[in-house]
Amino acid sequence: MDDDAHRRHAELGFDEASWEERYRIAPALWSGRANPQLVTEAADLPPGRALDAGSGEGGDALWLAGRGWQVTAADFSTVALARAAAAAERLDPGAAGRVEWVHADLTRWTPPAGAFDLVSAQYFHLPAADRDPVFARLAAAVAPGGSLLVVGHVASELHTGMPEMFFTAQQVAATLDPGVWDVVVCEDRARTASGPAGHELPVADTVLRAVRRR
Ligand SMILES: C[S@@+](CC[C@H](N)C(=O)[O-])C[C@H]1O[C@@H](n2cnc3c(N)ncnc32)[C@H](O)[C@@H]1O
Repeated sequence: MDDDAHRRHAELGFDEASWEERYRIAPALWSGRANPQLVTEAADLPPGRALDAGSGEGGDALWLAGRGWQVTAADFSTVALARAAAAAERLDPGAAGRVEWVHADLTRWTPPAGAFDLVSAQYFHLPAADRDPVFARLAAAVAPGGSLLVVGHVASELHTGMPEMFFTAQQVAATLDPGVWDVVVCEDRARTASGPAGHELPVADTVLRAVRRR
């Protein structure tokens, strides 16, 4: 992205039109690779049905499908979904056939209850008022024995101007009924990321993985 696109990107909000514009003004927003915490947490899970909430350009969905998962990838950006579907067809047509790309606003859409062996939300930062109800619907979509994986950014130099959109793994864990869920990961993990100028920056992810008992 050039400097103008970066400035424009930073000025945009987080509603559907803003995300659409954010994707439209850049040829690619994300690396296309699977997110590191998804790889860490899901690499050893037996493939089943997965929901990727806020699937963006589809790197996670395609990675899961490449490992045999049947994936529902949901996002409200039509640009991102089209880009993801095209990339999937180009990179791995076999796996692409295991992904259903769904245009949905997750503040309104209720995924089918108990239908997924993995529900993953990677850097799916919502306005604070939407977060608990949306995450509750995502949790309800997990099948017995399945995993809920919620990964967020811990605020850093890369993320300014949206403090109310951050959450911690502990906050998400506190919303889960302990009679239903085993929280198996609830922590922050440090890593490095490429900053806008291409230099490496220390960042951290907040990671919640919980397994539904019943
Ligand atoms: C930070 S991006 C993360 C994309 C992807 N998970 C990744 O890690 O590469 C957040 C994504 O959530 C989507 N999103 C944000 N709010 C949404 C909503 N209410 N319903 C559906 N998608 C939403 C955006 O369009 C964007 O693709």
